[in-house]
Amino acid sequence: MLNIADLHVYYGGIHALEGISLEVPANKIITLIGANGAGKSTTLRAICGLVKAAAGSITFQGEDITRAPTTQIVQKGITMVPEGRRVFPDLTVLENLYLGAYTRKNSGVKRDLDWVFSLFPRLKERKGQLAGTLSGGEQQMLAVGRALMANPTLLMMDEPSLGLAPLLVQEIFNIIKEIHSEGKTILLIEQNARAALQLADYGYVLETGRIVLSGTGKELLVRDEVRKVYLGEE
Ligand SMILES: Nc1ncnc2c1ncn2[C@@H]1O[C@H](COP(=O)(O)OP(=O)(O)OP(=O)(O)O)[C@@H](O)[C@H]1O
Ligand SMILES: [Mg+2]
Repeated sequence: MLNIADLHVYYGGIHALEGISLEVPANKIITLIGANGAGKSTTLRAICGLVKAAAGSITFQGEDITRAPTTQIVQKGITMVPEGRRVFPDLTVLENLYLGAYTRKNSGVKRDLDWVFSLFPRLKERKGQLAGTLSGGEQQMLAVGRALMANPTLLMMDEPSLGLAPLLVQEIFNIIKEIHSEGKTILLIEQNARAALQLADYGYVLETGRIVLSGTGKELLVRDEVRKVYLGEE
Protein backbone atom coordinates (compact mmCIF):
# COMPACT_ATOMS: atom_id res chain seq x y z
CA MET A 1 0.00 0.00 0.00
CA LEU A 2 2.74 2.43 1.04
CA ASN A 3 6.28 2.20 -0.20
CA ILE A 4 9.17 4.40 0.87
CA ALA A 5 12.43 4.11 -1.02
CA ASP A 6 15.69 5.74 0.04
CA LEU A 7 14.04 8.76 1.62
CA HIS A 8 16.21 11.67 2.73
CA VAL A 9 14.97 14.64 4.77
CA TYR A 10 16.91 17.65 6.03
CA TYR A 11 16.02 20.36 8.52
CA GLY A 12 18.46 23.03 7.39
CA GLY A 13 21.83 21.43 7.99
CA ILE A 14 20.47 18.48 9.99
CA HIS A 15 20.21 15.28 7.97
CA ALA A 16 17.22 13.82 9.83
CA LEU A 17 16.49 10.86 7.51
CA GLU A 18 19.52 9.35 5.82
CA GLY A 19 17.89 7.17 3.20
CA ILE A 20 15.20 5.04 4.77
CA SER A 21 13.19 2.40 2.94
CA LEU A 22 10.11 0.69 4.28
CA GLU A 23 6.86 -0.93 3.24
CA VAL A 24 3.39 -0.90 4.68
CA PRO A 25 1.30 -3.67 3.11
CA ALA A 26 -2.50 -3.34 3.03
CA ASN A 27 -4.39 -4.48 6.13
CA LYS A 28 -1.28 -4.79 8.28
CA ILE A 29 -0.09 -3.05 11.42
CA ILE A 30 3.46 -1.82 10.97
CA THR A 31 5.41 -0.21 13.77
CA LEU A 32 8.37 2.12 13.80
CA ILE A 33 10.37 2.17 17.02
CA GLY A 34 13.46 4.13 17.96
CA ALA A 35 14.95 6.46 20.55
CA ASN A 36 14.18 10.17 20.90
CA GLY A 37 15.34 12.07 17.86
CA ALA A 38 15.72 8.97 15.67
CA GLY A 39 13.48 10.42 12.97
CA LYS A 40 10.16 8.64 13.61
CA SER A 41 7.95 11.72 13.54
CA THR A 42 9.91 13.07 10.60
CA THR A 43 9.07 9.92 8.65
CA LEU A 44 5.34 10.44 9.23
CA ARG A 45 5.61 14.15 8.44
CA ALA A 46 7.34 13.31 5.16
CA ILE A 47 4.61 10.84 4.21
CA CYS A 48 1.97 13.53 4.86
CA GLY A 49 3.91 16.10 2.87
CA LEU A 50 4.54 18.27 5.93
CA VAL A 51 8.30 18.15 5.40
CA LYS A 52 9.99 17.99 2.04
CA ALA A 53 11.81 14.91 0.77
CA ALA A 54 15.28 15.91 -0.44
CA ALA A 55 15.67 12.59 -2.26
CA GLY A 56 13.93 9.25 -2.54
CA SER A 57 10.31 8.41 -3.18
CA ILE A 58 7.03 7.76 -1.41
CA THR A 59 4.42 5.74 -3.27
CA PHE A 60 0.86 5.19 -2.06
CA GLN A 61 -1.37 2.66 -3.81
CA GLY A 62 0.90 2.77 -6.82
CA GLU A 63 0.91 6.57 -7.06
CA ASP A 64 3.94 8.77 -6.44
CA ILE A 65 3.01 11.18 -3.62
CA THR A 66 6.55 12.34 -2.79
CA ARG A 67 5.83 15.94 -3.74
CA ALA A 68 2.06 16.03 -3.41
CA PRO A 69 0.49 18.70 -1.16
CA THR A 70 -0.83 17.56 2.21
CA THR A 71 -4.52 18.17 1.39
CA GLN A 72 -4.22 15.89 -1.64
CA ILE A 73 -2.48 13.22 0.43
CA VAL A 74 -5.29 13.30 3.00
CA GLN A 75 -7.86 13.03 0.21
CA LYS A 76 -6.06 9.99 -1.16
CA GLY A 77 -6.60 8.28 2.19
CA ILE A 78 -3.67 8.94 4.53
CA THR A 79 -4.31 10.51 7.93
CA MET A 80 -2.01 11.13 10.86
CA VAL A 81 -2.67 11.39 14.57
CA PRO A 82 0.12 13.84 15.39
CA GLU A 83 2.44 13.71 18.35
CA GLY A 84 1.03 15.36 21.47
CA ARG A 85 -2.76 15.38 21.00
CA ARG A 86 -3.23 18.45 18.86
CA VAL A 87 -6.92 19.04 19.30
CA PHE A 88 -8.55 22.46 18.84
CA PRO A 89 -9.00 23.49 22.48
CA ASP A 90 -11.66 26.16 21.90
CA LEU A 91 -13.89 23.90 19.83
CA THR A 92 -16.20 21.24 21.23
CA VAL A 93 -15.56 17.52 20.94
CA LEU A 94 -18.18 17.26 18.19
CA GLU A 95 -16.74 20.21 16.25
CA ASN A 96 -13.26 18.67 16.44
CA LEU A 97 -14.63 15.40 15.08
CA TYR A 98 -16.45 17.09 12.19
CA LEU A 99 -13.27 18.98 11.31
CA GLY A 100 -11.61 15.61 10.78
CA ALA A 101 -14.14 14.96 8.02
CA TYR A 102 -13.78 18.29 6.25
CA THR A 103 -12.11 16.95 3.11
CA ARG A 104 -14.85 14.36 2.58
CA LYS A 105 -17.59 14.70 0.05
CA ASN A 106 -19.34 11.42 0.62
CA SER A 107 -22.17 10.55 2.91
CA GLY A 108 -20.49 8.15 5.31
CA VAL A 109 -19.69 10.88 7.83
CA LYS A 110 -22.59 10.17 10.19
CA ARG A 111 -21.85 6.44 10.12
CA ASP A 112 -18.20 7.08 11.02
CA LEU A 113 -19.25 9.44 13.79
CA ASP A 114 -21.34 6.63 15.26
CA TRP A 115 -18.37 4.29 14.91
CA VAL A 116 -16.04 6.74 16.70
CA PHE A 117 -18.61 7.13 19.49
CA SER A 118 -18.86 3.36 19.84
CA LEU A 119 -15.04 3.11 20.08
CA PHE A 120 -14.91 6.00 22.55
CA PRO A 121 -18.19 6.22 24.52
CA ARG A 122 -16.50 8.87 26.66
CA LEU A 123 -16.40 11.22 23.67
CA LYS A 124 -20.10 10.75 23.09
CA GLU A 125 -20.85 11.66 26.72
CA ARG A 126 -18.73 14.76 26.32
CA LYS A 127 -19.53 15.82 22.78
CA GLY A 128 -20.54 19.34 23.80
CA GLN A 129 -17.50 19.92 26.02
CA LEU A 130 -14.66 22.18 24.90
CA ALA A 131 -11.75 19.98 23.83
CA GLY A 132 -9.27 22.03 25.86
CA THR A 133 -11.05 21.02 29.07
CA LEU A 134 -10.81 17.25 28.38
CA SER A 135 -8.30 15.22 30.36
CA GLY A 136 -5.07 14.25 28.59
CA GLY A 137 -6.33 10.73 27.89
CA GLU A 138 -9.62 12.02 26.57
CA GLN A 139 -7.80 14.44 24.28
CA GLN A 140 -5.79 11.53 22.94
CA MET A 141 -9.03 9.65 22.23
CA LEU A 142 -10.35 12.74 20.47
CA ALA A 143 -7.20 13.00 18.35
CA VAL A 144 -7.62 9.38 17.24
CA GLY A 145 -11.36 9.86 16.69
CA ARG A 146 -10.77 12.96 14.59
CA ALA A 147 -8.29 11.10 12.39
CA LEU A 148 -10.83 8.31 11.87
CA MET A 149 -13.42 10.85 10.75
CA ALA A 150 -11.32 11.37 7.62
CA ASN A 151 -12.10 7.72 6.79
CA PRO A 152 -8.44 6.95 6.09
CA THR A 153 -7.21 3.89 4.26
CA LEU A 154 -3.88 4.30 6.05
CA LEU A 155 -3.96 5.60 9.62
CA MET A 156 -0.64 6.80 11.03
CA MET A 157 -0.31 7.32 14.77
CA ASP A 158 2.55 9.15 16.43
CA GLU A 159 2.92 7.84 20.01
CA PRO A 160 -0.75 7.52 20.89
CA SER A 161 0.03 6.09 24.35
CA LEU A 162 2.47 8.80 25.43
CA GLY A 163 1.79 10.08 28.92
CA LEU A 164 -1.19 7.82 29.56
CA ALA A 165 -1.73 5.74 32.70
CA PRO A 166 -1.10 1.99 32.22
CA LEU A 167 -4.80 1.10 32.07
CA LEU A 168 -5.45 3.68 29.40
CA VAL A 169 -2.37 2.55 27.45
CA GLN A 170 -3.92 -0.91 27.33
CA GLU A 171 -7.22 0.58 26.22
CA ILE A 172 -5.56 2.54 23.41
CA PHE A 173 -3.81 -0.61 22.18
CA ASN A 174 -7.11 -2.51 22.27
CA ILE A 175 -8.73 0.24 20.27
CA ILE A 176 -5.91 0.15 17.70
CA LYS A 177 -6.63 -3.58 17.33
CA GLU A 178 -10.30 -2.86 16.84
CA ILE A 179 -9.62 -0.13 14.25
CA HIS A 180 -7.39 -2.58 12.40
CA SER A 181 -10.05 -5.27 12.47
CA GLU A 182 -12.41 -2.82 10.74
CA GLY A 183 -10.10 -2.92 7.73
CA LYS A 184 -7.69 -0.05 8.36
CA THR A 185 -4.00 -0.29 7.63
CA ILE A 186 -1.93 1.17 10.46
CA LEU A 187 1.53 2.70 10.75
CA LEU A 188 2.25 3.10 14.46
CA ILE A 189 5.07 4.94 16.18
CA GLU A 190 5.64 3.97 19.78
CA GLN A 191 8.06 4.48 22.63
CA ASN A 192 6.28 1.55 24.25
CA ALA A 193 8.25 -0.90 22.09
CA ARG A 194 7.07 -4.06 23.78
CA ALA A 195 3.36 -3.35 23.34
CA ALA A 196 3.92 -2.12 19.78
CA LEU A 197 5.91 -5.18 18.73
CA GLN A 198 3.38 -7.51 20.33
CA LEU A 199 0.65 -5.87 18.29
CA ALA A 200 2.42 -5.29 14.98
CA ASP A 201 2.76 -7.64 12.03
CA TYR A 202 6.11 -6.11 11.18
CA GLY A 203 8.44 -3.57 12.72
CA TYR A 204 11.33 -1.29 11.80
CA VAL A 205 13.96 0.03 14.20
CA LEU A 206 15.14 3.54 13.42
CA GLU A 207 18.45 4.86 14.76
CA THR A 208 19.58 8.42 13.96
CA GLY A 209 17.92 8.58 10.59
CA ARG A 210 18.60 5.02 9.44
CA ILE A 211 16.74 1.75 9.65
CA VAL A 212 19.06 -0.63 11.47
CA LEU A 213 16.79 -3.62 11.97
CA SER A 214 13.49 -4.95 10.74
CA GLY A 215 11.44 -8.08 11.17
CA THR A 216 8.13 -9.43 12.36
CA GLY A 217 7.06 -8.21 15.77
CA LYS A 218 7.83 -11.64 17.21
CA GLU A 219 11.33 -11.70 15.67
CA LEU A 220 12.23 -8.26 16.97
CA LEU A 221 10.98 -8.99 20.49
CA VAL A 222 13.65 -11.65 20.93
CA ARG A 223 16.55 -9.83 19.23
CA ASP A 224 19.31 -9.02 21.75
CA GLU A 225 19.81 -5.46 20.47
CA VAL A 226 16.09 -4.74 20.77
CA ARG A 227 15.79 -6.33 24.21
CA LYS A 228 18.71 -4.36 25.62
CA VAL A 229 18.08 -0.97 24.07
CA TYR A 230 14.30 -0.81 23.65
CA LEU A 231 12.86 -3.27 26.14
CA GLY A 232 15.25 -2.52 29.00
CA GLU A 233 16.14 -6.19 29.53
CA GLU A 234 19.53 -7.50 30.49
N1 LIG B 1 11.62 21.54 12.78
C1 LIG B 1 12.83 21.04 13.01
N2 LIG B 1 13.95 21.80 12.85
C2 LIG B 1 15.18 21.30 13.08
N3 LIG B 1 15.44 20.05 13.45
C3 LIG B 1 14.38 19.25 13.63
C4 LIG B 1 13.03 19.69 13.43
N4 LIG B 1 12.20 18.67 13.70
C5 LIG B 1 12.99 17.64 14.05
N5 LIG B 1 14.29 17.97 14.01
C6 LIG B 1 15.44 17.10 14.32
O1 LIG B 1 15.34 15.93 13.50
C7 LIG B 1 15.69 14.76 14.23
C8 LIG B 1 14.55 13.76 14.18
O2 LIG B 1 13.44 14.29 14.88
P1 LIG B 1 12.05 13.52 15.02
O3 LIG B 1 11.07 14.46 15.62
O4 LIG B 1 11.70 12.89 13.74
O5 LIG B 1 12.44 12.38 16.07
P2 LIG B 1 11.55 11.26 16.76
O6 LIG B 1 12.14 9.94 16.42
O7 LIG B 1 10.12 11.46 16.45
O8 LIG B 1 11.83 11.52 18.31
P3 LIG B 1 10.86 11.49 19.60
O9 LIG B 1 10.79 10.07 20.02
O10 LIG B 1 11.60 12.32 20.61
O11 LIG B 1 9.55 12.08 19.22
C9 LIG B 1 16.04 15.25 15.64
O12 LIG B 1 17.41 15.36 15.74
C10 LIG B 1 15.36 16.60 15.74
O13 LIG B 1 16.06 17.47 16.60
MG1 LIG C 1 8.51 12.00 17.54
